Amino acid sequence: MAGRIPQSFIDELLDRTDIVEVIDTRIDLRKSGRNYSALCPFHSEKSPSFSVSPDKQFYYCFGCGAGGNALGFVMEYDHLEFPAAVEELAKRAGMQVPEETPRNPALEKKRKSLYDQLEKTQQYYLAQLRQHPKKSRAIIYLKNRGISGQIARDFGIGYAPPGWDNLLKTLATTPEDKDQLVAAGMLVNREEENKCYDRFRDRIMFPIRDTRGRTIAFGGRVIGDDKPKYLNSPESPVFHKGNELYGLYEARQASNRLTRFIIVEGYMDVVAMAQYGITNAVATLGTSTSQAHMTKLFRMVPEIVFCFDGDKAGRKAAERALETALTEMQDGRQIRFLFLPEGEDPDSLVRSEGREAFESRVSNAVSLPDYFFNSQVQQVDMDTLDGKARLSMLALPFIDKIPRGVLHQLMLDRLGELTGLSTEQLVSLRSEKQSVPAGRKGPWQDEPPPYFSESIETSEEIPESSKTRAKQKPGAKNCSIASFSRHAITLLLQEPAIAGSIDFPGELRQTKDTETELLLELIAILEDKPNLKTAVLISHWQDKEAQKQLIHLASKERLLSDLDSIKKELEDTLNQLVTQIESKTETSIDMLKTKIQNRTASKAEILKYTRLCQQGTETQK
Ligand code: GTP
Ligand code: MN
Repeated sequence: MAGRIPQSFIDELLDRTDIVEVIDTRIDLRKSGRNYSALCPFHSEKSPSFSVSPDKQFYYCFGCGAGGNALGFVMEYDHLEFPAAVEELAKRAGMQVPEETPRNPALEKKRKSLYDQLEKTQQYYLAQLRQHPKKSRAIIYLKNRGISGQIARDFGIGYAPPGWDNLLKTLATTPEDKDQLVAAGMLVNREEENKCYDRFRDRIMFPIRDTRGRTIAFGGRVIGDDKPKYLNSPESPVFHKGNELYGLYEARQASNRLTRFIIVEGYMDVVAMAQYGITNAVATLGTSTSQAHMTKLFRMVPEIVFCFDGDKAGRKAAERALETALTEMQDGRQIRFLFLPEGEDPDSLVRSEGREAFESRVSNAVSLPDYFFNSQVQQVDMDTLDGKARLSMLALPFIDKIPRGVLHQLMLDRLGELTGLSTEQLVSLRSEKQSVPAGRKGPWQDEPPPYFSESIETSEEIPESSKTRAKQKPGAKNCSIASFSRHAITLLLQEPAIAGSIDFPGELRQTKDTETELLLELIAILEDKPNLKTAVLISHWQDKEAQKQLIHLASKERLLSDLDSIKKELEDTLNQLVTQIESKTETSIDMLKTKIQNRTASKAEILKYTRLCQQGTETQK
């Protein structure tokens, strides 16, 4: 929907709108330092934790986490959909919203031709599994993994034969076809080197279909032990990882009375379970489950069961899923967590113990509230009063994410039982912790109140200043890539104008880290339009999940005031980030790079280097 109103119009609209005026006509704002504060209109509170920044042109509530630009406020406060909110602000600003073109015919045509090419590709891979001279390699592999002919057919499993130009020669017969196959991600085009080749070579091919059954992408598994084990199509006009689930189409084909979905990790898990008659499993495409995924599934069924491996990675994944799940817990929806025995995945387990045993595991999976309280209780000492107090501090921010309703209340009650506090006491604890401590000027210049530094969302560390940072062990924790990226984003959001004077290092593209990707998106926008203000920038993520995070980062306290120090801090942060990224990338890449820099690399080595970089960006999670 948002896409139909040109972004340039929204940029200009926000530029001509003053958020303080917009909000002030709706609620009572008081000046407080450089900002304005008020009682938050989005949750009930006794002292003001809602703040509006005229500099940043956006609002943020330290109580409930609501935040955004003028458009977001109007949407929330007036309960308007995005286009209506645009209309409302445009009226104020005396601007005419451009006609919404109902469909862009050129774009429609382009998408259609991508679907056609992907369908042809799918047919091609199917045919190779039947007739390619090396087909037995693939067939033997599938047999060894216990995949029946029937299930391979149901899932459209195919084979991309070895070689660099099979698909290219067969399907890219005209320049248009070639362009479309490149756009669909099936061919890799290296313009600089005038090279174009098949992305998937010697792999078992799993077509990823949309809910209408159209092939929109592929996952390809190696037959041997090469790396990467799985290769996925890149994002394309018809494929967005964050929205799609493997096996969803097939699940809906198998049954028209679905009551629950099981979310598993892998392609093979979905396929094996279906073969054993459990046809309601779906998998994300190497990412964690997004809000969009859950919304999509909950439109079809009232219950989702997350299935995790019983190891540490599985528990980590469960924690991530929990956070996303809480916001989706409207009354009437159920979410449960299933942990498999260590060393097993659904594929191995269903094969060894069969359908019934597996299904009874699913039916006995632990409910979200049980899982939640178990994991929280484990973090504190429940024998002490202090531990119980800590439990309420830990749990309240999570419970707050659950939409208000019966479940929300039940969770509060349960927390009350565990801690011995009454619901009223908990609620007052909540509002006490939320209010801005007395004597402070307002949340923008200050640390968030302690309640929020407890919450997962805000507890991430800001990388320390460059001096203390130098002490960090080289090749340090994974999370530092994310946290340096977040810090760079924060600095850019606070002072978008500095982007113009910074050389952003190309190494940023070598990691698939979500935060770094977000940073890259931000940089791309700023390179295009260097003069955007924070609020306008953030509107580029309208309707996207990342927007919340951006708002959160933008609302962080600004520690440096002058442009030069911010610029210097950003440069330091980027250097640190590059160091982290490089220490994570394989040394062979580094060696090749050094050779290239020293001009001693052969042509083959240069090609290898670019390929490795590309694979690196495709497969690192
Ligand atoms: P099998 O070894 O074939 O049984 O794979 P699996 O389905 O058990 O996969 P695993 O548990 O190793 O990984 C689960 C999912 O993560 C896969 O289905 C992929 O979507 C993704 N994945 C695993 N390895 C890679 C990789 O090297 N690159 C990418 N992009 N994704 C991967
Ligand atoms: Mn497996």
